[in-house]
Amino acid sequence: MSDALPLGSTIGILGGGQLGRMLAMAAARLGYLAQVYDPAPGCPAAQVAPCVTAAWDDAEALDAFAAAVDVVTYEFENIPATTLDRLAETRAIRPSRQALRISQDRLPEKEFLNRIGLETAAFMAVTSEQDLAEALSRLGSPAILKTRRLGYDGKGQVRITDPAEVPTAWAAVAGRDRTVDAILEGFVPFEHEISVIGARGLDGRIACFDPAENVHRDGILRTSTVPAGVPARVTQDAVLATARILSALDYVGVIGVEFFVAAGRLVVNEIAPRVHNSGHWTEAGCAVDQFEQHIRAITGWPLGDGARHADVQMENLIGDDIRHIPRIAQEADARLHLYGKAEARPGRKMGHVNRIVRRG
Ligand SMILES: Nc1ncnc2c1ncn2[C@@H]1O[C@H](COP(=O)(O)OP(=O)(O)O)[C@@H](O)[C@H]1O
Ligand SMILES: [Mg+2]
Repeated sequence: MSDALPLGSTIGILGGGQLGRMLAMAAARLGYLAQVYDPAPGCPAAQVAPCVTAAWDDAEALDAFAAAVDVVTYEFENIPATTLDRLAETRAIRPSRQALRISQDRLPEKEFLNRIGLETAAFMAVTSEQDLAEALSRLGSPAILKTRRLGYDGKGQVRITDPAEVPTAWAAVAGRDRTVDAILEGFVPFEHEISVIGARGLDGRIACFDPAENVHRDGILRTSTVPAGVPARVTQDAVLATARILSALDYVGVIGVEFFVAAGRLVVNEIAPRVHNSGHWTEAGCAVDQFEQHIRAITGWPLGDGARHADVQMENLIGDDIRHIPRIAQEADARLHLYGKAEARPGRKMGHVNRIVRRG
């Protein structure tokens, strides 16, 4: 604790969506101030912390932000490199640039995972329709074509079930320019999708939360449930794989690691160098949730141990799901968390509910 950032210090958070908002709230609970940076006026985090509204390339605003904060963290991985270069001149960025660089691009991400001995889907880099046809003949159908960068919630990807679909799949992902850095992944016929939220402190200690089982609909996370319905060996392997990733990156902060479980084998899907939607259950299931865990890690506090004291199911409230709020508000053992977004557009994450499942 003696090396921890002094109480009353300011944590700079890049990105003011719901994750940035929840980080700011956790920072406040530990006696820190938060300052948020986001190009969008009226972002969800602005309701709970002071927010700088400026573009990612606004050098003056970035310098003022750096001067006002003591450490910099982020809520999403697609922050431009030049923004981080500028901030890194004067402030520590946690998690590090290396973790960001790897997770911003699906190609180095998979290469990194394979290099440290973890299994991924088979993959090939593609930049043209011709490349795609060739990669598909090598990897076989079905396969999934994804942009290497900037994909989220299933955006920027298409499933290909037959070679005849190559032209339309390429057009869908490459857009009007007909070129994009993409990756073709072999389809993993998984039985389960699970994720581990792990953390590594400034002192190198690691703590992981229990794996959650995730169900997606239309590419968007619907529910995360703990315990996951997988054998104990798989749970253990997933935690060990997460620890291996954290150590290999000399990581500081919370990470989300998504896995497929196929024929009892663990296949890493992707890593997110930040708090993660599939870790929201920790708010109701653990003494120290993922948001506090992240603030603890980047400020040099000891980590919470990650132990789980309840079975929980987290359900995302997406778009007009918010019409169910009056019903949810009457449920016993339901903890509602809303993000303060005014407009409920389709596919927009408006909030989530954690339901504590009573054990028999
Ligand atoms: N190689 C694959 N095999 C089978 N399903 C996949 C594969 N890649 C992605 N998916 C499905 O699509 C979802 C979203 O893909 P993901 O790569 O995690 O993108 P995003 O960055 O949008 O979360 C996954 O959670 C999984 O359900
Ligand atoms: Mg994903």
